[in-house]
Amino acid sequence: MSIQRVLTGIKPTGTPHLGNYVGAVRPAIAASRQPGVESFYFLADYHALIGCGEPARIHRSTLEIAATWVAAGLDPERVTFYRQSDIPEIPELNWILGCVAGKGLLNRAHAYKAQVDKNNAAGAEPDADVSVGLFMYPVLMAADILMFKAHKVPVGRDQVQHIEIARDIASSFNHLYAEHLVLPEAVVEASVATLPGLDGRKMSKSYDNTIPLFLPRDELKRRIGGIVTDSRAPGEAKETEGSALFQIFQAFASEAETAGMRQAYADGISWGDAKQKLFERIDAEVAPMRDSYQSLVDHPARLEDMLQAGAAKARRTATPLIGELRAAVGLRRLGGASAGQPSAPAPQKSSRATLPTFKQYREADGQFRFKLLDAKGQLLLQSRAYAVPRDAAQAIARLQAPGPDLAALLADAAEGAPADAVAVEDALQLLAAARDN
Ligand code: TRP
Repeated sequence: MSIQRVLTGIKPTGTPHLGNYVGAVRPAIAASRQPGVESFYFLADYHALIGCGEPARIHRSTLEIAATWVAAGLDPERVTFYRQSDIPEIPELNWILGCVAGKGLLNRAHAYKAQVDKNNAAGAEPDADVSVGLFMYPVLMAADILMFKAHKVPVGRDQVQHIEIARDIASSFNHLYAEHLVLPEAVVEASVATLPGLDGRKMSKSYDNTIPLFLPRDELKRRIGGIVTDSRAPGEAKETEGSALFQIFQAFASEAETAGMRQAYADGISWGDAKQKLFERIDAEVAPMRDSYQSLVDHPARLEDMLQAGAAKARRTATPLIGELRAAVGLRRLGGASAGQPSAPAPQKSSRATLPTFKQYREADGQFRFKLLDAKGQLLLQSRAYAVPRDAAQAIARLQAPGPDLAALLADAAEGAPADAVAVEDALQLLAAARDN
């Protein structure tokens, strides 16, 4: 079974609330425990700068969100948990991707378009209050995702367009420079509830209707008391449909508990009693995490250490890939043995020098070709010409997947017969063995 890479980012702009917990934190932690997935979770603090201008808030929110994820059971040993701004390869990739992303593509992105529509409606300049950061938001997000070759990106419905933009940008890049990037897919969990807030609209900090996740017990109880209900008296049957209180209860309760609450509604439970039951149910889930949250917030150095370790782990993936991408776009050292290598010193396995290599390139005639060189740099195989880099890359990929039809593959890929078919076969076997190690 092949490993699926799952990645998602959380913007640190506020205090985590029940909606974040039910909609993002809890499902992500559950998913990270599945076998066969490799999860990347990060604090998107560069994104948080867009339109914020409140340094203290970003700093505090980073602390609270990191503490929430760890208190809720995220295991930093098992997943890669880091802060976006600790990974310098991300802004570097942001620029490289910005050079292949069409401006027209970004003109159509929701967040930017919404601001332009608002300005037009108000008779203002179309780009009033639009920073370049807001405009580039989807490119930075594409960099976040493509940097780690993520297959799946769990997001809310409002973010799906951003994942599509990341796919578009990745395919433009691959088309221009050969197959380096993985096209990600958005995952919108239909089973995960969007939680209503105090006023019945979606729980969101922009509506100021949230219930923070880690409140002291009495404060949590007070907030729950503020959930809107209708004016039905105790003893009167209540509607579960459209009841914010019921929906929040359901998000925390088992099926049996939910059925019990449904019955209590039908039997005319008073709103006061229903709120008490909701409070008890939420507190039962939150209480065991509360102490650990508080202790993490009180000792930020522990979280900082975790984030630093996470950044180091993330960079073990990011540094080699940015090296590969720099080389692909032509940012290479001049001459010498290291030509074609990234100018940033990327960690290299020492065995690398003793392995055969594929080199893909574009010729003056605009066609794409590749060569297979042995460990000493001797030419083993010269490919035919391909019109698009993707086809050349796919031919390389096919040659690298060992199979019985090698002779046919070689006949298809080579320009003329390879001088030494046995040497080619040996080289491919060496590469396959190195990959399996
Ligand atoms: N834009 C996302 C949000 O507002 C946060 C985010 C930033 C993100 N980079 C990402 C989500 C990469 C998924 C993948 O919720």
